[in-house]
Amino acid sequence: MCGIVGYVGPKQAYDYLIEGLFRLEYRGYDSAGVALQQAGQIDVRKKTGRVSQLAELVKVQPVTGNAGIGHTRWATHGEPSDANSHPHVGGNGEVVLVHNGVIENYALLRDKLTELGYVFRSATDTEVAAHLIAHQLEEETKLGSDPTLAETCIQAVEKAIKKIKGTYGLAILFRDVPGLLVAARLGSPLVVGIGKGEYYLASDASPLVGHTEEVVYLNDHEIAVITADQFQLRHQNGGSNAKHIKVLEQAAVDTDLGEFEHYMLKEIFEQPTSIENALRGRLDDDEATAVFGGLNMDPQKLRCIDRIVLTACGTSWHSALVGEYLIEEFARIPVEVEYASELRYRNPPMTDRTMVFAITQSGETADTLAAMRECKRKGHPTLAICNTVGSTIAREADGGIYLHAGPEIGVASTKAFTSQVTVLTLLALFMGRMRNLSYPAGKRIISHLREMPDKIRQTLKCYDAVKEVARKYYTAENFLYMGRLYNFPVALEGALKLKEISYIHAEGYPAAEMKHGPIALIDEDTPSVFIAPRCGIYPKVMSNLQEVKARRGPVIAIACEGDDKIADLADDVIYVPDVDEYLQPLVTSIPLQLLSYEIAILRGCNVDRPRNLAKSVTVE
Ligand code: F6R
Repeated sequence: MCGIVGYVGPKQAYDYLIEGLFRLEYRGYDSAGVALQQAGQIDVRKKTGRVSQLAELVKVQPVTGNAGIGHTRWATHGEPSDANSHPHVGGNGEVVLVHNGVIENYALLRDKLTELGYVFRSATDTEVAAHLIAHQLEEETKLGSDPTLAETCIQAVEKAIKKIKGTYGLAILFRDVPGLLVAARLGSPLVVGIGKGEYYLASDASPLVGHTEEVVYLNDHEIAVITADQFQLRHQNGGSNAKHIKVLEQAAVDTDLGEFEHYMLKEIFEQPTSIENALRGRLDDDEATAVFGGLNMDPQKLRCIDRIVLTACGTSWHSALVGEYLIEEFARIPVEVEYASELRYRNPPMTDRTMVFAITQSGETADTLAAMRECKRKGHPTLAICNTVGSTIAREADGGIYLHAGPEIGVASTKAFTSQVTVLTLLALFMGRMRNLSYPAGKRIISHLREMPDKIRQTLKCYDAVKEVARKYYTAENFLYMGRLYNFPVALEGALKLKEISYIHAEGYPAAEMKHGPIALIDEDTPSVFIAPRCGIYPKVMSNLQEVKARRGPVIAIACEGDDKIADLADDVIYVPDVDEYLQPLVTSIPLQLLSYEIAILRGCNVDRPRNLAKSVTVE
């Protein structure tokens, strides 16, 4: 969470900072701020609310300078307020910084610094870092052993961050050293963009697009020392680190809404294309299998894998559940789906031949990254299924598969989910064909996968029907979502989508579990969404649906085109194309995305920026 930008060079820094903050706003939008250095002083402008509100403030109170930092906040410690907004000032203004991450020992440090006379103006953990560096700077200056003030400042940062427990991406300016920008990373991503006589800093590559193609990603414990004419990379324990310059692969961020009112709707309608992109070049008709360029594992080793762990958070965790069913069915390999936030601290037994996949849209989710690192540390092959090229998880994984879904800007994940499911289907096919899956079975899966973009196009035609259903139920305060087998994770995902953007309480369940408790929630005001396309246990799902109707619960069914019987039972039906069972999540999830979107709109919610959420969860 939280977006960071920085600039040092000949231009006015503010232009890059504000543009970068707009691009990073998906990481948090509780408040925003900038600090610009000019003529021996640092001017700070910060404001609760969106980046646009900061831009308005700066119009009235302009700031200038060739070095600057900026921040867009997702609040962790301290409510969203002007005082808690970044940048924060340390000491008597000699240090100004922005921070992403969580300083876990902030209370202890705050007490110590208060005793030393430092005055805190915010409730944030970040302000501790600002005063700590200012204090260290004072100590270093007293020692008077270093040749330049710049070097003293850098050493103050090195010493201060050693006292911090937790995670940080820090960008720091020093009032008395014009043109010096210091950045430090532990757990929260930072990337330096190399320009001609200028350098850019950002917490992910999106602000750099269009400014430079050469980037250096900071590793944990590294410190970047940046001036207009040079950039050094150091290890926090001293000594310089080699800079691994990478070419930025990202295309310009597509922020054009086109005919759509919101990114979420645009991204829902992009799914025929994003699924096509996930499949492109990965279907091998001759061998009836899937091909991946970046797994980086030799077939011998892959053939010996006896267990797969899929780890993820949120929507990506739901796609992992679909992946479990797919891989176990096609490849007959036992699969465990683990919440990354649990796996990172758990110690589940894993065989020597367990392979781990971290599934993530952003590639920056702190828990997923930590779980992946823990598995890697134990020596397991650890791969990523990831959308964001160059993200920390993509870089640190041993190999992986990109989604190629294009940037997902709406905070509620939509196209990333269906792309993840598509890639997991390819993975199941690939692993299956290494084992028991026959050639004809492989061919059949390939031909069905090829049809999916068109099937999704057809599915999207349900939008008018969805709008009607939304109008009927948008005032409900509780929803239940139910599905079985491949549609159980879809039920979870449908409930999550509704919760996060319309703030309606919703629960997803395997339909047959309902009678073990949740059935008590059924009443005339609680709609149940049944995901009930034709499948091997369709009659069983119908019985579950009848149990709800018997208790006068309204039922919205997601059913296959041509299923007239269900219309007699359900209050409302949204039809989707008939596809094989294992591909159903790709079509049944779409009306649920649209339903949550429409309900949120009718309730006047901000679908692209739902309250309390951020697109990229980079804190624990
Ligand atoms: C829900 C949503 C979140 C993310 C979760 C993991 O719509 O977007 O639940 O799925 O925060 O994010 P990634 O996939 O970036 O690791």
